[in-house]
Amino acid sequence: MKIVSVVGARPQFVKLAPIHQAAIAAGVEHVIVHTGQHYDPMLSDVFFDDLRIGAPDVHLGVGSGSHGVQTGAMLAALDVVLDEHRPDWVLVYGDTNSTVAAALSAVKMHLPVAHLEAGLRSFNRRMPEEHNRVMTDHAADLLLAPTQVALGHLAAEGLADRAVLVGDVMTDVLLQVRDAVVGRPSPLVAELGLPVGGHYVATIHRAENTDDPRRLAEVAAALSDLDRPVVLLAHPRVVAKAAAQGIPLTQGSLIAHAPLSYPDLIASAVSSAGVVTDSGGLQKEAFLLRVPCTTVRTETEWVETVGLGWNVLADSAEEIAAGVTRPRPAETDAAPYGDGHAAERVIRTLLDWDGPR
Ligand code: UD1
Repeated sequence: MKIVSVVGARPQFVKLAPIHQAAIAAGVEHVIVHTGQHYDPMLSDVFFDDLRIGAPDVHLGVGSGSHGVQTGAMLAALDVVLDEHRPDWVLVYGDTNSTVAAALSAVKMHLPVAHLEAGLRSFNRRMPEEHNRVMTDHAADLLLAPTQVALGHLAAEGLADRAVLVGDVMTDVLLQVRDAVVGRPSPLVAELGLPVGGHYVATIHRAENTDDPRRLAEVAAALSDLDRPVVLLAHPRVVAKAAAQGIPLTQGSLIAHAPLSYPDLIASAVSSAGVVTDSGGLQKEAFLLRVPCTTVRTETEWVETVGLGWNVLADSAEEIAAGVTRPRPAETDAAPYGDGHAAERVIRTLLDWDGPR
């Protein structure tokens, strides 16, 4: 069997790592296509190196642009690559522009498409990720759902016959990396001279929080007023938007820092008093590490983290401050994201699938 995985953005490289391992272990031919959506070394190369993926087989070099320009460039380039490889499966990941471009290119060429991380919904139609995931789910032939809640969303949209619960592949990676970095000092603690457990780790990059200058200024001010140092691992998008608007990202408690590699991020989160983020992946990683998380959004796709008390949604400055200073949540051994073997289940499902039930 031959699988072509199409990836392009940071969280997709994390999801790709356990799939690549599981594909090799199963003797499957696995071709990796990188669209080039993310190209900075700290957003791309370090993940291929640290997570031992090796180099992509094909790099489309598409780069940044408006949604239409970026997605269209990927579509045009993918037609050629998918036609050349004619795989048994095109595997697409998550909810980025790379995801929807690959799904659309493959479905038009009558190539079977499987969507990993299917069924997540924010129900916020203003989010580019929500368009991407809804359109990808409805285009795909096989929907690989990470959670029972995601499976329920697919059933509600009439897609139950092509959906399979496999668990969350990011959990596979997180558990491996956590075990490797346990006891390792946080690079932020060493570099910035911060007290262990006495600072917060933050990431903010979503369009909803960065594109409107008033909103970005409000979020930066809220973080700068928190009761402990806040290290903002600043995505190039937030750096560019803040610079264009003259909004300082180092002010008060807030300290801007370059993004970290995946193992360094995990080591830093473990050594922190809490995570403040608008990232999907980091909310879940914080939960799995049992680090309290405050999510700077009005909704989340990972509702289990909120239900179990390890994540709170916070929109205003007051809500963010209340979120980070709340009492430590009750301990839990709930495992809504699976057992760390989701990727093996994905490969087995791709090998065994014989059409909608
Ligand atoms: C994308 C995804 C988002 C995901 C995020 C992970 C979409 C619509 N959004 O958002 O769901 O959570 O990746 O990080 O696909 N830039 C660089 N260097 C890079 C990449 C981007 O400087 O390597 C800058 C450019 O100014 C670019 C901007 O960041 O215009 C936005 O990049 P883009 O890939 O369009 O979206 P993200 O914000 O990264």
